[in-house]
Amino acid sequence: MSNHSISVNGVIDDDDSNGHVSKKSRSNTLITDEDIRSEFSHHDPSVARINNGSFGCCPSSVLAAQKLYQKLFLCQPDKFYFDHLKPFILRSRTIIAELINADHIDEVSIIDNVTTATAIVLQQIQWGFAEGRFQKGDAVVILHYAYGSVKKSINAYVARAGGHVIEVQLPFPVTSNEEIMMEFRKALELGKRNGRKVRLAVIDHITSMPSVVIPVKELTIICREEGVDQVFVDAAHAMGSVEVDVKDIGADFYTSNLHKWFFCPPSVAFLYSRKSAVSSGLHHPVVSNEYGTGLAMESAWIGTRDYSAQLIVSEVMAFINRFEGGIDGIRKSNHDKVIKMGKMLAEAWGTALGSPNDMCSSMMMVGLPECLRVCSDEDAMCLRRHLREVFGVEVPIYYKETCKNGDDCVPVSYARISHQVYNVAEDYFRFRDAINKLVENGFTCRMQSASFQLKMDLP
Ligand SMILES: Cc1ncc(COP(=O)(O)O)c(C=O)c1O
Repeated sequence: MSNHSISVNGVIDDDDSNGHVSKKSRSNTLITDEDIRSEFSHHDPSVARINNGSFGCCPSSVLAAQKLYQKLFLCQPDKFYFDHLKPFILRSRTIIAELINADHIDEVSIIDNVTTATAIVLQQIQWGFAEGRFQKGDAVVILHYAYGSVKKSINAYVARAGGHVIEVQLPFPVTSNEEIMMEFRKALELGKRNGRKVRLAVIDHITSMPSVVIPVKELTIICREEGVDQVFVDAAHAMGSVEVDVKDIGADFYTSNLHKWFFCPPSVAFLYSRKSAVSSGLHHPVVSNEYGTGLAMESAWIGTRDYSAQLIVSEVMAFINRFEGGIDGIRKSNHDKVIKMGKMLAEAWGTALGSPNDMCSSMMMVGLPECLRVCSDEDAMCLRRHLREVFGVEVPIYYKETCKNGDDCVPVSYARISHQVYNVAEDYFRFRDAINKLVENGFTCRMQSASFQLKMDLP
């Protein structure tokens, strides 16, 4: 029986009779601008939301489908649990496996988020140290720009177990993949010093801050050449914003959120684990009744909770296929538009972009005027808050001290802009005008921090 032929009380429709998903649009009626506005009419209209990268978005039609699954559970929980939950999760896994070009459905587990996927992979590394397969001092290599929670997980699971953590120092602004590959090779050399082994490389597909598309396939090849045991790709931002072909990339583990760029509600992600002796030893960190039946099955029941976000992948595909070219069309359009808007902003402010176009996904780093004097992470947070509260613009700000010739250091700041289907050019014009106004008024973050402090001190 096809996994797609499940229909529950006629409430949730089948999406495909032959069990295959198409990445291309199959819908006869393409979505209109009016439809898009309606699908995202729950967004606060007073905010120019150019930060899809942080929390993603979910259209109304998918939220409505999610509610149906929630009701289906509440109307007869026992039937839902015994008859429907597993087949529905299997259907989502089947769709994902096909989209990412996995060899087998057993290689795909559905989990809450990338943070959970990281715990699954790192827990297995921790056991390597605890069970004596790895020696104290064996290395784990990560990018300097790895996401904060991933770095903390590395400390909690690996450093504490005796692993030596090496960070790859990445250049930013960056001009080519070669710069990244060179730094990566240097870090691996360091990892292998004194006869140590590199047990794991954690590589982002798209770093969060600053946002850069990393040459994951090339870095994975380098890992294989240099004898790195395992490669884990943190691709939190990838699904829906860059092409994902796990076989082509060749890593052991690859995880992406579906709630960032793939229109799923929070929260759902997948973890791909290439079939091997290592992957059969993976376990979900929340142990429940399915423990020992394989990661995909363990992940499909981690205790009583709301599983609805994991079940609606086929409804998400129905939404995606209303766009010309399906998911490929969406990501190409977002990429082109974010570049156009990024260039427009940089031109208006007389600043530079953080990377070439082909190292951007649906996000781009745009330099901010130096006179704003964003000189610390606190300043960056203060400017972000000011843009939200005074101008209704939601955009993350990045700060970095850039040093030339070792000691001539200047603070440099960037905005990370995103483009998703609901964005319009006016969102970016509002951001442009807000920054221009701040420059015109002689605004500095120092000034703003002082007045914020004053307000805090008032009784
Ligand atoms: C690169 C990267 N890794 C991991 C995460 C964590 O994702 P989540 O909070 O969904 O677990 C994020 C979140 O933005 C991220 O950008």
